Amino acid sequence: MNSRRNFLQKTAIFAGALALGQYKANALTALPIVDHDDEEYWKLVRAQFPLSAKKIYLNNGTQGVSPFTVINEVQQDMLEVDTQGKYGGGDEAAIKALAQFLNTKESEISLTHNVTEGVNIICWGLALKAGDQVIITNNEHVGHASPWLNRWKLSGVELVVISLAKTAEETLQNIQKAITKKTKLISVPHIPCTIGQVLPVKEICTLAKQKNIATFLDGAHPPGMLQVDLKDIGCDFYAGCCHKWMLGPKGTGFLYVSAEKRNTVQAYYGGAGVDTGWNLLSHPKEFKGYSENGHRYFYGTQNASLYKGIVKAIEFQNQIGRERIEKRVKYLAHYLQENLIKLSPDIEMLTPIEDISKAAQIAFKVKNKEVQKLQSQCSEKQIVTRFVAENNINCLRISTHIYNNTKELDTFLLEVDKFVKS
Ligand SMILES: Cc1ncc(COP(=O)(O)O)c(C=O)c1O
Repeated sequence: MNSRRNFLQKTAIFAGALALGQYKANALTALPIVDHDDEEYWKLVRAQFPLSAKKIYLNNGTQGVSPFTVINEVQQDMLEVDTQGKYGGGDEAAIKALAQFLNTKESEISLTHNVTEGVNIICWGLALKAGDQVIITNNEHVGHASPWLNRWKLSGVELVVISLAKTAEETLQNIQKAITKKTKLISVPHIPCTIGQVLPVKEICTLAKQKNIATFLDGAHPPGMLQVDLKDIGCDFYAGCCHKWMLGPKGTGFLYVSAEKRNTVQAYYGGAGVDTGWNLLSHPKEFKGYSENGHRYFYGTQNASLYKGIVKAIEFQNQIGRERIEKRVKYLAHYLQENLIKLSPDIEMLTPIEDISKAAQIAFKVKNKEVQKLQSQCSEKQIVTRFVAENNINCLRISTHIYNNTKELDTFLLEVDKFVKS
């Protein structure tokens, strides 16, 4: 009881400080351990974001909103760069933070600008030839589908499209059935952009290893939502971004290439950091080799302030606690899913019900109605959702992150109720 009273007192003090716009970097860690449903604590977390109180932002799956700490860091550093005439840097710290965050070696992380860039590096870097098969799914985002379709068009690589099923076991079986002697790569989303389903990635990677098939995961969503551990998953390649669930600066991403598989991914672009030495004036001309780290795949002038923002975003997540974040975002999504199902038999729930196959995104349709209209209805009430047209799925997707709460979800549910009854 005492600790609860202390917690509320501290919350009030911090909330006061925040109202004055004084961001306290340590405010969140100073609080006692709280639960995933302790709304007072999560109210304080929301106060760390500039997000308007009027907005019910349920579209983190498209783009995350950054907390003040990230925005301040980037803004201040950009000012410092131009005040002092500073150039470069920041990449090592960002790589170190990402490697710790994802449990990889630092040498296995390349800094990119988004997921799509990472997908293209793998897609073109692997020595695939006409007739080689790549397994993908029927729930891809354009950022994963388009690079592969381009590779199919230009190199004749065969794309074998499997269906995602309602259970992890069935999805795994669908992949197993699709494997042939010509399968060279399984390239699937960890969580697709469509219905928020979590794929059984560890099992997929184990299966692939047994058959000597490489694995590449489109990791646009899980980092920052789930406690992603790439060594535990055991994939060969993973493309992610910091601008969705990690709540980092826009236009920042990463690519993981396992050290064991680095030499199977050809670098097709040269530039500062890619090579281990060059000489254009010697005879013969010299290009010594490729860097034995993630720098093999990125080069040239970058915005070092954004790299600092990545470090801050990871610090912010660690401050709150990654386990606590995962529990909270799943709790909210579960709350929404349960209440949607209860709301009406006309709700067609697309996100799987089983716990291992769902996380923080819920997607649904409404029988005999176009949910795009529900999106417009919500938009008039300042509720931001995502209509998913991809792969002709035509559903509404709701993302729940740490700045959301059950009250916001209740407001959204009211709109769904009106829509269903209209
Ligand atoms: C599953 C998935 N893959 C790839 C992408 C593309 O990400 P980016 O815009 O960072 O390239 C997205 C974006 O929403 C996505 O949801």
